[in-house]
Amino acid sequence: MDRPDRRSDLLASALSTLRSVSAVTPRVGIILGSGLGTLADEIPDPVRVDFRDLPGFGLSTATGHRGQCVLGRLDDVPVVAFSGRLHRYEGYPDDQITFPVRVMAAWGVRQLIVSNAAGGLNPLLRVGDLVVIRDQIDLGKRRQPRQPGHWDRSSTSGTDSAAESGWAGETLRGIPSPAQIYDTDLAEIALRAARNGDFRAWPGIYLSTLGPTYETRAEYRMMRRLGADVVGMSTAPEALTAASLGMRVLGVSVVSNVAIPERGWSEPLQPTLHQDVLDIGKGATEKLRHLVFAVLRQEIV
Ligand code: HPA
Repeated sequence: MDRPDRRSDLLASALSTLRSVSAVTPRVGIILGSGLGTLADEIPDPVRVDFRDLPGFGLSTATGHRGQCVLGRLDDVPVVAFSGRLHRYEGYPDDQITFPVRVMAAWGVRQLIVSNAAGGLNPLLRVGDLVVIRDQIDLGKRRQPRQPGHWDRSSTSGTDSAAESGWAGETLRGIPSPAQIYDTDLAEIALRAARNGDFRAWPGIYLSTLGPTYETRAEYRMMRRLGADVVGMSTAPEALTAASLGMRVLGVSVVSNVAIPERGWSEPLQPTLHQDVLDIGKGATEKLRHLVFAVLRQEIV
């Protein structure tokens, strides 16, 4: 067999590739969202592996996503950081989006910090605030493919061959019960760190859409009424999978734009620009760094 085509084989190959490049066995995993990838640059003497060199990893087509796995120690804790992620709007099935999470779980990672850039729906939120995710509303769920098949890595988008990979049930058995996805202890540590660091972080509900569009004013208003504080196009599948595999999950959104849906119709809604989303992410890296270090220092298992 030239290359593995079953999901479990891909997982084993990805793990052995990662183990062959570094002796680090990470305890904490970090997924860095839009514009937040520079946090991985904090890892001294890192080992970097491009997703394209890792069996089973899809290639991100989204701007602002590097597509790199960075291994090393942060504050002396062995970590693995994924700079870049896959999205449902790129056409990838959840099984492929969550593949890095499955690899981390198999590697023994016990905690996942997952970050994203998101639009603020709660009127209290300002651009640059952080939201520590308490719970999620996943409106991007799609029917997941079940046919066994080959995963074509030559494709840069999740087209039919990726969609036919049919991984459901191999690693996650049964139907996940998402009663408590986000870890309350980690959320408390993060919120306390923000208070100590004197910057704004709020507990809140993350709503995940399929994307790839930002919202109309009417949609922002609807999402607020549904009970969401922030909206984005990622995170929900990774967080659900990580929790289902027994990992403690901390989710952090960086507010890159605010929707203010309750303003009158005469006041124009500023269009959300992808470049702004990326730029705000870069500015917020320092705050995210502060939260990440707080979690690493008070490592709980
Ligand atoms: N909507 C959806 N996704 C987003 C937004 C938004 O306003 N901002 C950043 N990601």
